[in-house]
Amino acid sequence: MLIEPHGGRLVNRVLNETWRKKAIDNASKMAEIRIRDDTITDIENIAKGVFSPLEGFMGESDFENVLNRKSLSSGLPWTIPICLDVTKEEAERLEIGEDCVLADSKGTISAILHLEEKYYYVKKEMAEKVFLTADTKHPAVAKIENMGAVLLGGKIDLVNERFDPYRRYNLSPRETRVLFKEKGWRTVVAFQTRNPVHRAHEYIQKCALEIVDGLLLHPLVGETKSDDIPTDIRIKCYETIIRNYYNSGRTVFSVLPVNMRYAGPREAIFHSLVRKNYGCTHFIVGRDHAGVGNYYGTYDAHYIFDEFDPSAIGIQPLFFEHAFYCKKCNGMASAKTCPHPSEDHVFLSGTRVREMLRRGEIPPKEFTRPEVARVLIEGLKETEI
Ligand code: ADX
Repeated sequence: MLIEPHGGRLVNRVLNETWRKKAIDNASKMAEIRIRDDTITDIENIAKGVFSPLEGFMGESDFENVLNRKSLSSGLPWTIPICLDVTKEEAERLEIGEDCVLADSKGTISAILHLEEKYYYVKKEMAEKVFLTADTKHPAVAKIENMGAVLLGGKIDLVNERFDPYRRYNLSPRETRVLFKEKGWRTVVAFQTRNPVHRAHEYIQKCALEIVDGLLLHPLVGETKSDDIPTDIRIKCYETIIRNYYNSGRTVFSVLPVNMRYAGPREAIFHSLVRKNYGCTHFIVGRDHAGVGNYYGTYDAHYIFDEFDPSAIGIQPLFFEHAFYCKKCNGMASAKTCPHPSEDHVFLSGTRVREMLRRGEIPPKEFTRPEVARVLIEGLKETEI
């Protein structure tokens, strides 16, 4: 028996061929809304059940509950607003109760929105409650600044899926559930990352794998900030490290096509719920999970779980303290296990590692696997990062 999806049922809002053709035929009679790529990503995730139990964009009651109570109006835990913004002028020409076409910037239909609600929201309040800051240097707060003044609520139906360059690695929640069942795994730990896998990542994944049946290495490949390592380079890094250092019988590699929010603690809950939908029973939360800059405390993403009834979250978080290589222990360790002072620990900041890679230097093997470093050196030659 696999773990139940959040809310008990895996949502499917992908139209079948008959309804898809009907939707396309009717589309010319509907109002059209041009939407951004990141919104299309949300649509595809809603449609495939990644965001179960959401069946569309949040109405005002869900939105308010998420901001103020970290739950949907049904009481189910949920921490990140999934919303569709339009300008006031656009909202005025839309009728509640009607179907609208959601199209990309070129006019290709993505989905049909069954418009149920239009409502105003306060940007500063959204930023402060979800991201704990109104500072526009925070990448998500900067995005809120550019959003339209009105939010639309309503269920969606996916008409056309975009071309997916990572399709062969992009298993849907239905597909991972089938795979875990085939493998006979009753417990699966998911690992979220937006970075190449370094030694600390590898260590906490393998510690976790010691107590469960399988590992889902599940890097996020939706929108990330511009100075994060590009996805195609990261994919090569993941392929390389798995080939050289992972037990293929116990590891599934698949990507998560979800946008990064950089919401720290709230995003840790969101990331867990999403992995529950993929059929995972455990989820790794390490240091400064989904953090950016200094907006969140190192372990705030652990503490937030105390605010919830564990049975309502369903998936079991596995908390890890800051991990590093200790020269005296002669191996990977953490503050919990290592008695030696920090001078004995190999620590490199992200900026320092990037500088080394840029110069073609391989960082210490205690920090990153040399095979991965070589892929990064090659990849970064062609980028501006
Ligand atoms: S994240 O935005 O996806 O969280 P990142 O890719 O850096 O960023 O981290 C992936 C996961 O590994 C997160 O759970 C994070 O907390 C954890 N993590 C990253 N580095 C360390 C470390 N040195 N020690 C312990 N956990 C870590």
